Amino acid sequence: MNLRKIVIAIDGYSACGKSSTAKEVAAILGYRYIDSGAMYRAVTYYFQEHHISLTNPKEITKALEQIHISFKVNQKNGTDTFLNGLSVEKEIRKMRVSEMVSQVSTIKDVRTAMVDQQRRMGRERGIIMDGRDIGTVVFPTAELKLFMQAEMNVRAFRRQQELLERGQLVDLDDVIENIRQRDEIDTTRAESPLRKAEDAIEVDTTYVSFDEQVDEVVRLALSKIVIP
Ligand code: DC
Repeated sequence: MNLRKIVIAIDGYSACGKSSTAKEVAAILGYRYIDSGAMYRAVTYYFQEHHISLTNPKEITKALEQIHISFKVNQKNGTDTFLNGLSVEKEIRKMRVSEMVSQVSTIKDVRTAMVDQQRRMGRERGIIMDGRDIGTVVFPTAELKLFMQAEMNVRAFRRQQELLERGQLVDLDDVIENIRQRDEIDTTRAESPLRKAEDAIEVDTTYVSFDEQVDEVVRLALSKIVIP
């Protein structure tokens, strides 16, 4: 039995369980997990902290040259996002960033910079990356592409729980409103909008438990990894 290192691309709407599933599957397969949304969040956080105007291309180009994003696996098997060597994991999950990140990710120069970095991270393969354009733009030749979705109420409830675990109490209606707005911007933007790649497999997580979700993705991955 031969094993090969593949690239797994997971795309889908906000709060469908992409990141938590990808993280767990990566741990099981011994793969590297990259949360591409965290990269757009880190850029957004940098822009906010440095008061970068979203309508000033020169400022944006200069700022992007100053931004270096990296990831480290932490003791809880999670991944921490680092911006220029400092952990920003907590900050980038706050509503202040969530409310602006979709806007920032419509900017062409931001996308070009992130896609370059993401492709470099995937060079050695053996990687799972989740986001909105991974199967369509970043890795169009990925061996396994998944498109995840779930019903809005389930997505919002799960995201609210996640925020609560991070110590943030956010009203469910506000979470729903934020998800709706991000879906709208992510699917209608001019630059690489969210869409299902033609060869992506649809995974609906509405009625399945987390473990079932992970099992299904591991099964699909192994069908591509194992060469009989
Ligand atoms: O996965 P997330 O919800 O943390 O992503 C935050 C935002 O980043 C999302 O609203 C859209 C943007 N994004 C993107 O445009 N392309 C990606 N590959 C990943 C995220």
